[in-house]
Amino acid sequence: MDKKILIAPSTDPCPIGDLIEYGRELLREGADWIHCDIMDGHFVERKTFDEIVLSLLSKRVNGIMDVHLMVEDPIEKLHLYAKAGANNITVHYEALKGTIATINAINEIHTLGCKAGLSIKPETPVSVIENFLPFVDIVLVMSVEPGKSGQKFINDSLSKIAKLNTLREQNGYNFLIEVDGGINDQTAGAVVSLGADVLVVGSAIYSSHNRAQLIRTLKTIND
Ligand code: DX5
Ligand code: ZN
Repeated sequence: MDKKILIAPSTDPCPIGDLIEYGRELLREGADWIHCDIMDGHFVERKTFDEIVLSLLSKRVNGIMDVHLMVEDPIEKLHLYAKAGANNITVHYEALKGTIATINAINEIHTLGCKAGLSIKPETPVSVIENFLPFVDIVLVMSVEPGKSGQKFINDSLSKIAKLNTLREQNGYNFLIEVDGGINDQTAGAVVSLGADVLVVGSAIYSSHNRAQLIRTLKTIND
């Protein structure tokens, strides 16, 4: 397989005080994006960090900031995250109130100069976002319930990845398929073979004794 797989380690397992050091290390070790998990305590139960920490991180860690907004009313906050250094901003379809809000969010992210991602939770079918696929740069398939790292990969996500890949091929769309939750060297192979381009990896990388090796393994999982 000659397709390049991008690895986006998640900030979630790392204590905030260690994020700059962790981010720098990951980029040295071959990570492609830093996946910043932003939780507001409303859309999901936990609260992580906000645009203020992102701004510090993006200034000190010289990599692509892939921001996953697990927040209520994301449209209100897009400009804050763009200003704080986000390169990609992904919003949840479930946090947007209908078609117009979804289109507005995608347009606003583009106007702010960022790549636009749309995410769906495990129980949300691909069919509800089909109309937006021509306009997004990234579809983020949640393969665990959003809210915390360290959960088990939900196998039903595999058919969603396959469906997105088929729709992309049939229609000539350009979005990347990013998969988030429970990815490790056991689950990545199937995800990649069905069409994923970007693997978000939280606890598997954070807890690894050889992060560089694991990143290499995941990048070349089906070679
Ligand atoms: C879940 C977050 C994920 C998560 C990934 O709410 O969006 O990015 O932290 O962690 P693992 O890989 O441990 O499932
Ligand atoms: Zn995430």
